[in-house]
Amino acid sequence: MEKMPVSYKELGLVNSRDLFAKAVKGGYAIPAYNFNNLEQLQAIIMACAETASPVILQVSKGARSYANATLLKHLARGAVEFAAELGTPVPVVLHLDHGDSFELCCDCIASGFSSVMIDGSHLPYEENVALTRKVVEYAHKFDVTVEGELGVLAGIEDEVSSAHHTYTQPEEVEDFVSKTGVDSLAISIGTSHGAFKFKPGEDPKIRLDILAEIERRIPGFPIVLHGASSVPQDLVETINAHGGKLKDAIGISEDQLRLAAGSAVCKINIDSDGRLAMTAAIRKVLDEKPEEFDPRKYLGPARDALKKLYIHKIMNVLGSNGKA
Ligand code: G3H
Ligand code: 13P
Ligand code: ZN
Repeated sequence: MEKMPVSYKELGLVNSRDLFAKAVKGGYAIPAYNFNNLEQLQAIIMACAETASPVILQVSKGARSYANATLLKHLARGAVEFAAELGTPVPVVLHLDHGDSFELCCDCIASGFSSVMIDGSHLPYEENVALTRKVVEYAHKFDVTVEGELGVLAGIEDEVSSAHHTYTQPEEVEDFVSKTGVDSLAISIGTSHGAFKFKPGEDPKIRLDILAEIERRIPGFPIVLHGASSVPQDLVETINAHGGKLKDAIGISEDQLRLAAGSAVCKINIDSDGRLAMTAAIRKVLDEKPEEFDPRKYLGPARDALKKLYIHKIMNVLGSNGKA
């Protein structure tokens, strides 16, 4: 069956433009929480409605095939209505995380996404510029906002992995932003994807000096931080106490993230912490109650744990509470 394109506006979603402008001015960051399933989405919306925070619902290519694009479209519309039902209609963005091709971005735009990332960070500079510009030209026709990336994060991004960071070169950012017309820029300053961001004994610091130099060169331009999970040690301990095997999982300190959120960083991406919170809760229930086999009995506590984590981030790290 031929699918009819749908505009995100019909779903009640917004693009990220105004949210970013306000966040940069106000010195806070908007949460970009990844989700793949119903419980994660419920937790995100409940947390954001309760704290009156705008939210970016973030979906990777893998998450989109896992959840199904048609279901996602309806879930996004449902998320907007659910927040309103809870008493706080928060602005909701549906964003493609790490889009790897022009075609994928177009497909997402046709199925209700209000924002897309085109990640050309692994390409030679001029190719990254050309691909990003092509996506921007297309997306802007539909008033969809676009995130580009300069610099490569260490770790795994979907199928692509890199052993070392290639920090964003501040001298490239003005040229990249002006040639591509992107609405926001993801940078590499020492964060990385996943739960193993630093080796034991390494100084777990990110390069806030590079961030400051980027900000000096493109003042007020919205910056995005990927790989920003903190890897809470209590969650790692709970997982390991109930049969898990996560050795030396280390994240970004909340102090550093608070500093970043107070700067031009206006979108902070968090996925791994949610995975840890869910896994810890599920392992605990299944370990302590081996007779349990109703999914609601372990997915329910996982959802509660996620909601608590998301509220904590909003209130104590990002500062987006009350900004809806
Ligand atoms: O940056 C990657 C995100 O955490 C999404 O991960 O591609 O496994 O869904 P995923
Ligand atoms: P974490 O793995 O640190 O949660 O980063 C997620 C991310 O950057 C998604 O794009
Ligand atoms: Zn990322």
